[in-house]
Amino acid sequence: MENEKNRVNQLTTEVATPVSNDQASLTTGKKVGYTLFADSYLNEKLAHFNRERIPERVVHAKGMGAHGYFEVTNDLSRYTMAKFLNKVGKRTPMFARFSTVGGEKGSADTARDPRGFALKFYTEDGNYDLVGNNTPVFFVRDAIKFPDFIHTQKRNPQTNLKDANMFWDFLSLTPESLHQVMRLFSNLGTPKSPRFMDGFGSHTFMWYNEDKEYVWVKYHFKTDQGIQNFTGAEAEQMAGLDPDYSTKDLFNAIERGEYPSWSVYVQIMTPEEAANYPVNPFDVTRTWYEKDHPLIPLGKMVLNRNPINFFEEVEEAAFCPQAFVPGIWASPDKLLQGRLLAYQDAQRYRLGVNNRQIPVNQPKYSTIYTTQRDGFMQVNGNMGNAPNYYPTTFANVKVAPEDAQPPIPVNGVIERHTIETDEGDFIQPGEFYRDYLDEDGKSHLIYNVFNSLKNADQSIQYRQTALFYKCDKVLGELIGQFLGLDEDKVIQLANMSQEERVKKTMPQPIPYT
Ligand code: HEM
Repeated sequence: MENEKNRVNQLTTEVATPVSNDQASLTTGKKVGYTLFADSYLNEKLAHFNRERIPERVVHAKGMGAHGYFEVTNDLSRYTMAKFLNKVGKRTPMFARFSTVGGEKGSADTARDPRGFALKFYTEDGNYDLVGNNTPVFFVRDAIKFPDFIHTQKRNPQTNLKDANMFWDFLSLTPESLHQVMRLFSNLGTPKSPRFMDGFGSHTFMWYNEDKEYVWVKYHFKTDQGIQNFTGAEAEQMAGLDPDYSTKDLFNAIERGEYPSWSVYVQIMTPEEAANYPVNPFDVTRTWYEKDHPLIPLGKMVLNRNPINFFEEVEEAAFCPQAFVPGIWASPDKLLQGRLLAYQDAQRYRLGVNNRQIPVNQPKYSTIYTTQRDGFMQVNGNMGNAPNYYPTTFANVKVAPEDAQPPIPVNGVIERHTIETDEGDFIQPGEFYRDYLDEDGKSHLIYNVFNSLKNADQSIQYRQTALFYKCDKVLGELIGQFLGLDEDKVIQLANMSQEERVKKTMPQPIPYT
């Protein structure tokens, strides 16, 4: 049957039947009236409305996104067989999402928090996701600590309030967090907008070439707009005045044609260098010194297109640290290893098992051939009549052993190994304070710490200030003075082992016994 010409500009139901009236339900009377079950349009409207909300991301709920491209500016293909990196001038379309971490979906953009820096590259070998932050380090170095750490950033189970005791109790019991804490409480913790911040892959990753030679890499994205931060006071004020400040800034800049860009670099370390490096190169609480491993240019990232529909393109975006392409793989960083499974698991819950069929998550320049089938919201053809198993003689499909990552010899003992707290936990945070921050930056850091730590119990203030003292004496002294703490007591605590320090600063009486 030949269809009549489709109606245009017609308000319709979800199945495109024309709507005759959108302002009055089907009722039995003019001023009062029983509503008819037969009003399927009213029913559709109310029922769909009731189902508009989906679970927000358990972390990084508040975010913004934009489309753009990555362009190679320096040929490093001797290190990696990743096709999207194999030629100077090659452009790969990509999508970026930036976010705060701890707050809910409606929370303020300017909250003191690390910023997510999540990137999806639509390469010819499938999607590559680099799910980083605006910091080169993280608070904890073992994935098993992550849920507890995040709970301390969320709300108190009883009061439903953000709670300085939870926050600083955990941090002061976790000295490995100091490096990230320093960055967070400097003005880097309140960037004006993603346009004005750097991004990092944070973890160490593997790059390997066709000959299965491999190196370890760290990614750095340097903003071409220059770093711009709010001070703590400005950020707090902006949270009230315009909680969506950064979202607006990014969107409007792109609308104006001021496309933000980042110059992309890598640090490279050979396996031999890694074996002898004084800092554990796979510990995400530490950085590699640029004097040892200088930044090598790799490319440029440009964001030049705003989403048309926020929900479909940004809210439904699903980034996964496990989405590697041939030539790039994970390192034995214990935090990264935990992340590899966590994200798709979260996304199967948040978006459903077929979340990769959502347009923003689909590969764009490579063909999918999978034996995965069915599941809720399978909408992509479901592989038609292709065999749903492998190996098969009923389809011309093969695997690509040449793409596999290099064999990595391992020799270990299975147990719950801890990377113990040691003096190394205090070195880089101290260097950050002394060498990275100028005098103004130092004062802001001290004030920002004071402004938050003052809300915690005094025992926790002592424990945390002693840790700051271990990073840098002047820093510890100044924070202690701001908080009105006894300096001798801070020094005594700083000179103890972490175990003794914790014992000496237990809250009295211990709650929940
Ligand atoms: C989002 C887990 C550490 C960056 C998420 C989500 C989960 C998660 C479950 C929500 C995913 C979703 O619903 O789409 C973890 C775990 C970690 C960890 C278990 C440690 C073991 C990190 C680190 C970084 C990071 C170290 C950065 C270096 C991000 C970003 C997002 C995110 C940027 C938001 C992605 C987006 O924009 O959709 N994380 N995370 N996470 N995480 Fe992590």
